[in-house]
Amino acid sequence: MKDKIVVFTGAGVSAESGLKTFRDMGGLWHRHRLEDVASPQGWQRDPATVLRFYNERRAAVLAARPNAAHRAIARLEEKYEVVVITQNIDDLHERAGSSRVVHVHGEILKARSTALPERIYPLKGPAIELGDRCERGSQLRPDVVWFGEAVRHMDESEMHFSTASKVLAIGTSLSVYPAAGLVAYAPFSAERWFVSPEPQEIPRGYRFLEGTATAVVPPLVEQWLA
Ligand code: APR
Repeated sequence: MKDKIVVFTGAGVSAESGLKTFRDMGGLWHRHRLEDVASPQGWQRDPATVLRFYNERRAAVLAARPNAAHRAIARLEEKYEVVVITQNIDDLHERAGSSRVVHVHGEILKARSTALPERIYPLKGPAIELGDRCERGSQLRPDVVWFGEAVRHMDESEMHFSTASKVLAIGTSLSVYPAAGLVAYAPFSAERWFVSPEPQEIPRGYRFLEGTATAVVPPLVEQWLA
């Protein structure tokens, strides 16, 4: 039985791959009103603007490459049972080789029917346009969780946290619940680490590792694999 590691990531783990975070300077929420581009109300009001926002982000994801932190996280599978629970909608963990990735906020590289939410389609190209419809004729949308919509896989994620022997949280401001609340499900017995380049509110029982993901995560992983 391998020890289980839960790696909990936010936008910061993909920052050094060139993908914008949300709340850092120059972040996405400094350029767009989230209620316009990441909410059901914004979709009702102006679906073309919402589609354009995600088409731009999807193009950035397709142009990005996994960084040394994503790759180090994937290497943990050599010795541990690893579950990556991510708030990110990019596929960089998968492209780095992680085999168990839980997307609690959905995936930008998938489309979903607006009439039949269970119908999910891998995207052929980088864009979803007005007029792209499912076989029932309803408009396709990005398969991501908008503000006010249900977050996914929370029961499974709580279970993984509560049975972890190590938890490594990387690159999240813990601003958005219920995802942010997952960090509290780690048992007292777990070794808990929190990686961020700047001092911030660290969850109780977590040890703060100051630095960027690519500077801090590979050496920590090397130690854990030694
Ligand atoms: N390495 C590690 N951490 C970094 C780096 C880096 N190179 N650069 C920035 N960070 C940290 C920031 O210090 C911050 O703590 O990453 C975090 C980014 O925070 P947010 O921009 O709030 O991103 P996140 O926590 O993932 O947001 C959660 O909010 O808008 C919603 O759905 C969206 O999933 C997202 C959720």
